[in-house]
Amino acid sequence: PRVAVLMGGLSAEREVSLSSGRECAAALRGEGFDVVEIDAGHDLPDRLAEAAPDVVLNALHGRWGEDGCVQGMLEWLGLPYTHSGVLASALAMDKQRSKAAFAAEGLPIAESRIVPRAEAEAGHVLPPPYVVKPNAEGSSVGVYMVAAEAAAPPALGPEMPAEVMVEAFAPGRELTTTVLGPGPVQDAACALGVTDIVTEGWYDYAAKYTPGGSRHVLPAEIPAEIAALCEDYAIRAHAALGCRGVSRTDFRWDERRGAEGLVVLELNTQPGMTPTSLSPEQARAAGMSFGALCRWMVEDASC
Ligand code: DAL
Ligand code: MG
Repeated sequence: PRVAVLMGGLSAEREVSLSSGRECAAALRGEGFDVVEIDAGHDLPDRLAEAAPDVVLNALHGRWGEDGCVQGMLEWLGLPYTHSGVLASALAMDKQRSKAAFAAEGLPIAESRIVPRAEAEAGHVLPPPYVVKPNAEGSSVGVYMVAAEAAAPPALGPEMPAEVMVEAFAPGRELTTTVLGPGPVQDAACALGVTDIVTEGWYDYAAKYTPGGSRHVLPAEIPAEIAALCEDYAIRAHAALGCRGVSRTDFRWDERRGAEGLVVLELNTQPGMTPTSLSPEQARAAGMSFGALCRWMVEDASC
């Protein structure tokens, strides 16, 4: 079958997506697929009509590619595509609304509010420490940490939208779990273990995409009870948003508080597939090569 790999796109995560897309395209060629690479611009419908793929591997991240927009266009064109559909993508991209869905499912989250940026700059919206971030971004683009001792709120850069999320800081270790959802390839969702991400300072954009910018401990050296909770929460988060295919759920775990200290930060419906990304590494540790993971995604989308 012919697979169109969508990459690049128009979001702040364009470079990340180009990297994800190239990796996936190369791997699918290695698996014997006929692959067309498409840098997704405003002419995307024309490019898809030219390419006439049987299935689309969506390697886009961020706005338009991860938030239901491109998914809606693919539905309209009648093209099967990887990862989540319109509603789950839109919901997951909206951090505040996805957290409401997690809370309704009984999953622990960090308290947060959406406020006009002027309000976030005028005074402390929550008692420090807290985090100010866009409600709909990825890869830690535009994340401002406000330390416990900070006297003033942060001055926000021009990249920040008119409304921002102010979220209570959840201290602790950075854990993540990838889920392969139920679908035509497998009946039940499965979780691919837990990675502990060790960084000096924050796990920010540079730490995410610079080789050596962070150390991934896989499997995480944490109690079996906490690892099992991460896998359970990740599978339930995936189901709560109605996700399909692959997703990755990020956590913070305050080990001083045991199981009570585990908080769901967010779910990514388009987990990174770059050379430093977490999901391909978790798949590999679970016995699934990068090529096998890409094949799984394509088969899950096309059956
Ligand atoms: N937003 C990046 C691509 C990730 O979640 O992996
Ligand atoms: Mg993210």
